[in-house]
Amino acid sequence: MISLVLVLFSSFLCHVATAGRTCPKPDELPFSTVTPLKSFYDPGEQIVYSCQPGYVSRGGMRRFTCPLTGIWPVNTLKCTPRVCPFAGILENGAVRYTTFEYPNTISFSCNTGFYLNGSSSAKCTEEGKWSVELPVCAPVTCPPPAIPEFATLSVYKPLAGNISNYGSKAVFECLPHYAMFGNDTVTCTAHGNWTTLPECKEVKCPFPSRPDNGFVNYPAKQTLYYKDKATYGCHDTYALDGPQEVECNKFGNWSAQPSCKASCKLSVKKATVVYEGERVKLQEKFKDGMLHGVKVSFFCKNKEKKCSYTEDAQCIDGTIEIPKCFKEHSSLAFWKTDASDVKPC
Ligand SMILES: *[C@@H]1O[C@H](CO)[C@@H](O)[C@H](O)[C@H]1NC(C)=O
Ligand SMILES: *[C@@H]1O[C@H](CO)[C@@H](O)[C@H](O)[C@H]1NC(C)=O
Ligand SMILES: *[C@@H]1O[C@H](CO)[C@@H](O)[C@H](O)[C@H]1NC(C)=O
Ligand SMILES: *[C@@H]1O[C@H](CO)[C@@H](O)[C@H](O)[C@H]1NC(C)=O
Ligand SMILES: *[C@@H]1O[C@H](CO)[C@@H](O)[C@H](O)[C@H]1NC(C)=O
Repeated sequence: MISLVLVLFSSFLCHVATAGRTCPKPDELPFSTVTPLKSFYDPGEQIVYSCQPGYVSRGGMRRFTCPLTGIWPVNTLKCTPRVCPFAGILENGAVRYTTFEYPNTISFSCNTGFYLNGSSSAKCTEEGKWSVELPVCAPVTCPPPAIPEFATLSVYKPLAGNISNYGSKAVFECLPHYAMFGNDTVTCTAHGNWTTLPECKEVKCPFPSRPDNGFVNYPAKQTLYYKDKATYGCHDTYALDGPQEVECNKFGNWSAQPSCKASCKLSVKKATVVYEGERVKLQEKFKDGMLHGVKVSFFCKNKEKKCSYTEDAQCIDGTIEIPKCFKEHSSLAFWKTDASDVKPC
């Protein structure tokens, strides 16, 4: 009788346990999945926690059975992302990254003068490997530069294989009679091409015309070209205004057009003047006249203060204006002191 009661009782307990205490939906853990996932489980049912692709846990998956208490045991599973191999250094370039973990992407760039041979970014995959082969920064090179018409290369030192590095220079020269427009130097750019090439153009100049009271010499040729020269001179008392030598420039005209200017006859018979920083006697220094362009300083008197000062005069194409303050003494007036002998003001 008692044993029957016991059997009944224990089977009742058993029924309460099995029928009453279900387990709830299990806690969600980061980066993990539960199979099967339900909203409740009967005691004795099994679930498996495993990490999502790209994540791993030490000790692998976890298997749990819903206990009679209806409370899932404490789960220590910790899923962490897979880590891809170190890729933090790119020679002659830079890597941008936060971490090398799944599912991050890192990106690459190269320093100026280098280009990226390969992908500009890589993703850390579920398998913990980079999605692409890591790139390298290769030096930029330029092929030989094109040679402009009527030009030659005067400086060009390519590397083996006739290539040039970023920053290398080449220098062009124009053939004789041709003038260069643009920069004679080209540089290998970061794009692997050269900077803008110069142009060489044939340049002719007209024959220079003879100056009045002078002459011009130039090469006895049919045509005068860029860089040809002409020289000028003047007859006897005339002086050249401009350079003696002129050159045909790249605009097809001459660097200057010198002319001959008349020299000055001096109305003053006797005076001490300053010429090129020195006191000279006008009548001796310029007895054959004064050439165009010459500048002298005359002495004048300040009567009130009894001192002297100077005023300039210049010979311009046959004319010199003597300063009004200058007073020429008659050679008979020997008692008068010349202004040049009076102390300066
Ligand atoms: C670019 O990289 C590939 C593979 O890494 C290599 O075979 C190739 O020669 C490289 N190209 C240049 C121009 O460096
Ligand atoms: C380099 O260029 C020069 C002239 O352009 C040519 O004569 C030479 O054969 C080239 N060398 C190579 C290795 O390509
Ligand atoms: C020509 O180019 C070089 C660099 O390539 C530069 O240093 C130089 O100043 C340029 N010359 C002129 C006249 O522009
Ligand atoms: C060189 O290449 C770059 C990029 O392709 C281009 O923008 C530039 O105009 C080129 N330079 C010359 C001088 O051709
Ligand atoms: C040469 O010609 C250019 C353009 O025609 C002009 O601007 C310049 O003034 C001329 N120079 C001389 C020295 O005649």
